[in-house]
Amino acid sequence: MASKWFETVAVAQRRAKRRLPKSVYGALVAGAEKGLTARDNVEAFSELGFAPHVAGLSATREMATTVMGQPVSMPVLISPTGVQAVHPDGEVAVARAAAARGVAMGLSSFASKPVEEVVAANPQTFFQMYWVGSRDDMAARMERARAAGAVGLIATLDWSFSFGRDWGSPHIPEKMTLREMIRMAPEAAARPAWLLEWGRTGRIPDLTVPNLPVGGAPAPTFFGAYGQWMQTPPPSWEDVAWLRSAWGGAFMLKGVTRIDDAKRAVDAGVTAISVSNHGGNNLDGTPASIRLLPDIARAVGDQVEVLLDGGIRRGGDVAKALALGARAVMIGRAYLWGLGAAGQAGVENVLDLLRSGLDACLLGLGHSSIAELSAGDLVIPEGFTRRLGG
Ligand SMILES: Cc1cc2nc3c(=O)[nH]c(=O)nc-3n(C[C@H](O)[C@H](O)[C@H](O)COP(=O)(O)O)c2cc1C
Repeated sequence: MASKWFETVAVAQRRAKRRLPKSVYGALVAGAEKGLTARDNVEAFSELGFAPHVAGLSATREMATTVMGQPVSMPVLISPTGVQAVHPDGEVAVARAAAARGVAMGLSSFASKPVEEVVAANPQTFFQMYWVGSRDDMAARMERARAAGAVGLIATLDWSFSFGRDWGSPHIPEKMTLREMIRMAPEAAARPAWLLEWGRTGRIPDLTVPNLPVGGAPAPTFFGAYGQWMQTPPPSWEDVAWLRSAWGGAFMLKGVTRIDDAKRAVDAGVTAISVSNHGGNNLDGTPASIRLLPDIARAVGDQVEVLLDGGIRRGGDVAKALALGARAVMIGRAYLWGLGAAGQAGVENVLDLLRSGLDACLLGLGHSSIAELSAGDLVIPEGFTRRLGG
């Protein structure tokens, strides 16, 4: 059998594209409207160069750190995503891979696997919530996550329900009815390896979200949950402070793009923020997160942990983000391509690539630890950064 190992995330993406049904792959590509932000997230990293040394390099390099109180083997976390239908083991496979590599797991409240199973696979799990339903509903979800053993909460608030993509959105059924199965049969039949994997489990992707119901209600469908979310009035900063204090433990506000919001997050008492634009899935035209990072890190980096997500595809991107002030990064599509290409092993493969790529950067830049990375390691073109809200 040919080796399943892949040498870059780009190769994993091509394999995932070949292996997954068209609509499942399309759901992972995601992006909003014209795709400006999704593209800029990735391309902005290419504008940054390195300034390597040739001698005096360090024979040992330290990559371990802590994020939101969790010791991790490298400054890379799994960003929460709903992994509907990509793989039968879904987020549990991702959590296992992350645990095997000493990496913390972010679990989406719109994920396909229950928080209890995911925490069992990786005790370093942060549960992610959107602002959905009443405060009582949210308190109940938090209690469930806490009882399951989640070690932190991620509140994601950067979603504006903008929809429509110039390249077309995939068809995602509300429920896998017989009619839908017949409709989707041709694209599934064209992906025998994917079909076989699901066939072995005797299940079909049910497209429900088991972490959202409260009070013993059955898991709603993805679109049922989405509808409830759309009807929930958006949160105020008091709501954010309430959420933060109701959780009590380590708390991240994900989706910050502006300095004024970063400062308000500090006032609300968060542990960490992630400079993020939801992988280019919120307002299209928002600059790449890496362009926003330096000014935000400068403004609040001594008060909260500043993370970045968006566009990380290689270890060099991790090094660049750390050099510009991030404590760690979170990855989305990179591990989704790994999962789609080769399940748990594919996610481990992606994490290994990021680790070895980051290690190569530390070596070339003459550092013995990620703590030594700084803007002086980079060639930063004039006008690269964007400063929003302050
Ligand atoms: C398919 C998909 C689903 C996502 N679902 C969620 C989610 O449920 N919760 C969340 O906080 N972020 C979600 N995100 C955003 C990611 O957590 C992360 O911010 C983004 O993917 C980072 O950009 P990258 O994909 O370029 O690494 C999703 C992203 C994608 C691509």
